[in-house]
Amino acid sequence: MAEPDAGGQEHWESIYRRKATDEVSWYRPHLERSLHFITQAKLAPDAAIIDVGGGAATLVDDLLDRGYTNLTVLDLSSAAIAQARERLGTRAAGVRWLVGDVTTIELPEHHYDFWHDRAVFHFLRDEEARRRYIAAVRHTLKPGGHVVVATFGPEGPEKCSGLDVMRYTAEGIHDEFGERFRRIGDASETHVTPWGSEQEFVYCYCRMPG
Ligand SMILES: C[S@@+](CC[C@H](N)C(=O)[O-])C[C@H]1O[C@@H](n2cnc3c(N)ncnc32)[C@H](O)[C@@H]1O
Repeated sequence: MAEPDAGGQEHWESIYRRKATDEVSWYRPHLERSLHFITQAKLAPDAAIIDVGGGAATLVDDLLDRGYTNLTVLDLSSAAIAQARERLGTRAAGVRWLVGDVTTIELPEHHYDFWHDRAVFHFLRDEEARRRYIAAVRHTLKPGGHVVVATFGPEGPEKCSGLDVMRYTAEGIHDEFGERFRRIGDASETHVTPWGSEQEFVYCYCRMPG
């Protein structure tokens, strides 16, 4: 039987309370693929970028280093956000931090230029949750806004953080968003966990209808 809070906030709080940033399977020192797509988008330095389920990832550090000034990190776990804030020190004050569930949180309308998600969408096994996720993207992105979603690929693990996940091809991620989202690019990568296991990730980069 599934634990009552499987995949809920308590699950993630307990992970981040017990483990350091570089002790979780999804850790990598830099999210190079994501940085590549964000650079490819040729955004203005003050473009609004949201890292959804950003956890304690270093993407926000690297974006600050590259001169982006309008960054938001959203995560279900306050402990994850605390790790990232502590690492950034005084620079954390220049970032907007949101603790909440991407499928239910209220985000501002047509506000963001770039939506980034690495390893969050694949936890949404319930169709209704995926529908709410995509509705949130459509609501909060500016028309023509950019979306990068990375999930485990078809050869990737069946579980992440002990939770069952969906595995996708880049086409499969795009199918979830629908034809009106223009597909710009995709990538796959072999992620090596801190203990040396290999995991297939796929990335889908698309744009909202203008
Ligand atoms: C596998 S980790 C990936 C973290 C980060 N994106 C990275 O690549 O290092 C998944 C993250 O998504 C967060 N998360 C899971 N479900 C979520 C949800 N429904 N809403 C917001 N965040 C969620 C977790 O707390 C966790 O930080």
